[in-house]
Amino acid sequence: MTDFDQRRRTLCMQLLGGLAGAALGGSAWARPSVDDTGKVFRLDGAGVTYAFGVNTDGQLQTLYWGSALAPDDRLAAPVPVPENSSNEMPVVLTPFEFPGFGGGLTVEPALKVTFPDGVRDLVLRHVDHRVDGDRIVIRLKDVSRAVHVTLTYAMDAATGILARSAVVENRTPGWIQVDQLAAASVNLPYADDYRMSYLTGRWAGEFALQTRPIVPGSIVIESRKGATSHQANPWLAISRGATEEESGPVWFGALGWSGSWRIHVDMDGLGGLRTTAGYNPFDFAYRLKPGESLASPVFHAGFSSEGFGGASRVFHRYQRSNILPVPPGASAPRLRPVLYNSWEATLFAVDEAGQTALAEKAASIGVERFVMDDGWFGARSSDKAGLGDWVVNRKKFPNGLAPLIKRVNALGMEFGLWVEPEMVNPDSDLYRAHPDWVIHFQGRPRSEARNQLVLNLARKDVYEHLLKMLDRLLADHAIGFLKWDHNRAWSEPGWPEVAAADQQRLYVAYVDNLYKLLAELRRRHPKVEIESCASGGGRVDLGIMALTDQVWTSDNTDPFDRLLIQDGFSRAYTPAIMMAWVTDAPNFVNRRVTSLEYRFLSAMQGGLGIGANLNHWKAEDFALAKRLVAGYKAIRKTVQQGDLYRLVSPQGGSNRSATLSVAQDGRQAVLFAFLHSSGLREAQPRIQLRGLDPKKEYALRAIAGKAVPRTPQRASGAYWMGHGLVVEMVGDFQAAAFVLEG
Ligand code: GLA
Repeated sequence: MTDFDQRRRTLCMQLLGGLAGAALGGSAWARPSVDDTGKVFRLDGAGVTYAFGVNTDGQLQTLYWGSALAPDDRLAAPVPVPENSSNEMPVVLTPFEFPGFGGGLTVEPALKVTFPDGVRDLVLRHVDHRVDGDRIVIRLKDVSRAVHVTLTYAMDAATGILARSAVVENRTPGWIQVDQLAAASVNLPYADDYRMSYLTGRWAGEFALQTRPIVPGSIVIESRKGATSHQANPWLAISRGATEEESGPVWFGALGWSGSWRIHVDMDGLGGLRTTAGYNPFDFAYRLKPGESLASPVFHAGFSSEGFGGASRVFHRYQRSNILPVPPGASAPRLRPVLYNSWEATLFAVDEAGQTALAEKAASIGVERFVMDDGWFGARSSDKAGLGDWVVNRKKFPNGLAPLIKRVNALGMEFGLWVEPEMVNPDSDLYRAHPDWVIHFQGRPRSEARNQLVLNLARKDVYEHLLKMLDRLLADHAIGFLKWDHNRAWSEPGWPEVAAADQQRLYVAYVDNLYKLLAELRRRHPKVEIESCASGGGRVDLGIMALTDQVWTSDNTDPFDRLLIQDGFSRAYTPAIMMAWVTDAPNFVNRRVTSLEYRFLSAMQGGLGIGANLNHWKAEDFALAKRLVAGYKAIRKTVQQGDLYRLVSPQGGSNRSATLSVAQDGRQAVLFAFLHSSGLREAQPRIQLRGLDPKKEYALRAIAGKAVPRTPQRASGAYWMGHGLVVEMVGDFQAAAFVLEG
């Protein structure tokens, strides 16, 4: 096994075993069971059952996935699927848990390999299985060649979410080439009203929710870009025709991988629905020497019978308890500090005096973390030069960063810094010294984007250089936070340093080393938090999330656009990591003008940040900001770690939207309501809350805006959920926020 494989396997195990779970000391995985025939395997947790079995031909088939079956319900072992016609061989109709490309498989395989003699046929059969503590481990092997596959299944007892992954191992005497590897295939039985929801987008327009019917044929969502991408995110939800926000079945899944990925959903002619998620097979090849293995990413799959809202609440909970880093000794991820970021205020024009002035103003409104963005290093005065030269620019900071950091700390704030370690400008000392360090094909043009190239992090020397550089930066300065950016996709994905047959290992080896680098830095600097940014939300997935504390949701800071982006984000990911800034009006994206209060309330739906140029603020702006930052601190635990109800979604061009977050202990709930524009003297409908204790009394308090006259100041949960309240909103871009305390 190579270093890469060893490490990937470790990472998989950490995820499955619960790195976070271990720290939590509480997150339990469900106990799997095997029936007395040894043919049926079952995982049960939190109202969900997942069952699969092995048939008399040794094929592994899905049996059931959905709402919990009774413990005594016996599931019959699967039987080989009969031939339907000569045009539909059994193999294409079998609901395989992990199909190999072979034996006539013409639907999507989970694994496809090429042997040195040209054979490209792989027929996987069950060898054995074991219940290993809280997981089921299944071993499969090709019918004649020593290609072994180990499948791991673990279900989180608290959420019923199943983590699946696969490892393929070459025990043949020669090399094998893995052409395609998925973490899992999951199957659902025939229904004529399935729908698929997924997230697409672009720069400044991430997390756009798409929903379409599933009919025979394939739907592919993917990234070929070397990173997760803005264009599609590795999450999907499958629902039924009658599913709504708070009712009906939703099966969902997300792949924990920050490189090129693919999720393939196909319905065959007889209505069987299969979802296969893993490395993107496009341009993929991973050659394994004898004894080597390759691990897949982890696919996290869940089910809720409580609609899209139930699905996202359970997935958010899983991310908080099983994925996100938890500080040593703590029982939950740390709450996001209120941050200030300099980017929109100063762009590349950062210097000691300017940043100090901003820091002083930021501290005065209650900011807890001051982040200096791009421009502090090398010859960086625009995006044309300096990337790669991570030495402090002495013209801008004649005495280094220490005086600024000292001042920031003295103001009671943590200091944070922007870096983009994986990139280089050709106009940089690093590139002049090491032009061979970038991803490229020998003798071919190197396509630039934002005047930069991508360093080949799969190379050992690049990895070691970045580790040394970042380690030193963190050791030499009192830095509490890194904003880790990644501003372009790959091009010309070559790795000329290694043999031609090994070059496509890049797709895995790069991301492996990225994870290894983040993990090592966290180990050496356990107090430093990291944000995953990629020109906004281009690298948000459960892989990077295990190693970073928050994400930059989008470069689009327009507070109205953000409502839609944040709604889409919340379908897949927890608000506990979703950063949102209050910036200037008119906003740079749309030139839209909104009030400071509206901008705050939109940003307060996630981790709050301020990115406005505070030098332009008036006294009343500071006063309002100070009040709202204080108000946010009193509700942030509920907003970040509570249960989210999308009461009125902004999807589909809705004129209004509203969310409610209910604290885990049920004692606080936070309501945000937004109106795009009022017209024609249209009335405001009542907003009926959810998730409260009907018998408990809750006091209503406004953070901003007001409810219509005669709204009670105290009432039961039953009242707020049944009767609801009407928020007074007239005008364009109106917003209000309330706290209910019980
Ligand atoms: C990316 C990020 C921005 C900012 C710039 C700096 O675009 O998404 O927030 O950090 O880089 O160059």
